[in-house]
Amino acid sequence: MSSIVIYFSRAGENYFGGELKNIEKGNTEVIAEYIQEIDNAELFKVETVIDYPTDYMECIDVAKKEKQVVARPKIKKTLESIEEYDTIYIGFPNWWGTLPMAMFTQLEQLDFAGKIIKPFVTHEGSGFGSSQKDLAKLCSGGEIKNGLSIPGANVGNAKEQVEAWINE
Ligand SMILES: Cc1cc2nc3c(=O)[nH]c(=O)nc-3n(C[C@H](O)[C@H](O)[C@H](O)COP(=O)(O)O)c2cc1C
Repeated sequence: MSSIVIYFSRAGENYFGGELKNIEKGNTEVIAEYIQEIDNAELFKVETVIDYPTDYMECIDVAKKEKQVVARPKIKKTLESIEEYDTIYIGFPNWWGTLPMAMFTQLEQLDFAGKIIKPFVTHEGSGFGSSQKDLAKLCSGGEIKNGLSIPGANVGNAKEQVEAWINE
């Protein structure tokens, strides 16, 4: 059985319980690396050609516009196939209630038929938001399992929770 984590995560300025902090590694990436370690999964990070602003408020604005215009931002590298994997972990921060638009750019390229999909989100209070509805469309043909939702500020303590979820 082999697995891959397809994820998006942004380092830089972010909110932690009402306080802005600069982080070197995004919250979602922390979880992706736990999965790599626990399930021996490969990692595929979705990265946009144009970086998002490090400044939190600027990034909020850029992301809001992208969602409004249903953007599909160009990504540096596209994962062409998931044929060799049985389990596909899909990880992302909640951006304006759903996945960052760059995840749509990537996921729309893949065929999820017959795959097991395990989604996870990091967030600042809204959990999955409406992303599960979007995931159902993006991953049609796949079997979407229970999702894991972790507040961004808690990722450092979430390893056991991640392990339990992987083994569900
Ligand atoms: C552009 C943007 C939009 C966001 N929108 C939401 C939101 O709608 N609901 C929420 O709970 N958190 C929201 N957040 C907070 C992030 O989901 C949270 O900080 C997440 O852990 C960031 O993950 P990352 O460090 O992997 O990028 C937003 C953050 C950004 C930068």
